[in-house]
Amino acid sequence: MEEGPVVLLSTFYRGRNNIMTASCTMSMDFSPMVGVMLGPWDCSYRALLKTRECVLAIPGADLLAKTVAIGNCSGAEVDKFAEYKLTPCPAAKVKAPLIGEALKNLECKLIKNQQRVPET
Ligand SMILES: Cc1cc2nc3c(=O)[nH]c(=O)nc-3n(C[C@H](O)[C@H](O)[C@H](O)COP(=O)(O)O)c2cc1C
Repeated sequence: MEEGPVVLLSTFYRGRNNIMTASCTMSMDFSPMVGVMLGPWDCSYRALLKTRECVLAIPGADLLAKTVAIGNCSGAEVDKFAEYKLTPCPAAKVKAPLIGEALKNLECKLIKNQQRVPET
């Protein structure tokens, strides 16, 4: 049911960079609009709603193991850039970092959100 590629989604919130893995991704339109489904239990969910910015980084096959590991731990407990030896690079238009080792990085602004769970 998941039609998009697995991506690494980075955020910058309260002075900290974070990354999560997301595979529920899809194109929404012929414009460059991408849909991503995040669980409200993810730290990244709150960061994205609060800052309305993120980077979607496309990992290559060399990042396979790290991509799975990043999706199995929480930014509340782990500095994932440090733990997985990834390089946060400044983006041009958002505060969320590019991932230096990714194949491509898309700087994104949140333009629409369907919030099913109230913020805590
Ligand atoms: C391959 C893979 C795909 C994932 N896809 C999603 C997804 O599409 N949406 C989601 O909310 N969580 C997804 N996850 C789980 C999150 O990456 C995971 O909950 C992560 O710990 C969230 O990190 P954070 O709390 O630092 O934001 C995926 C995990 C893996 C390993």
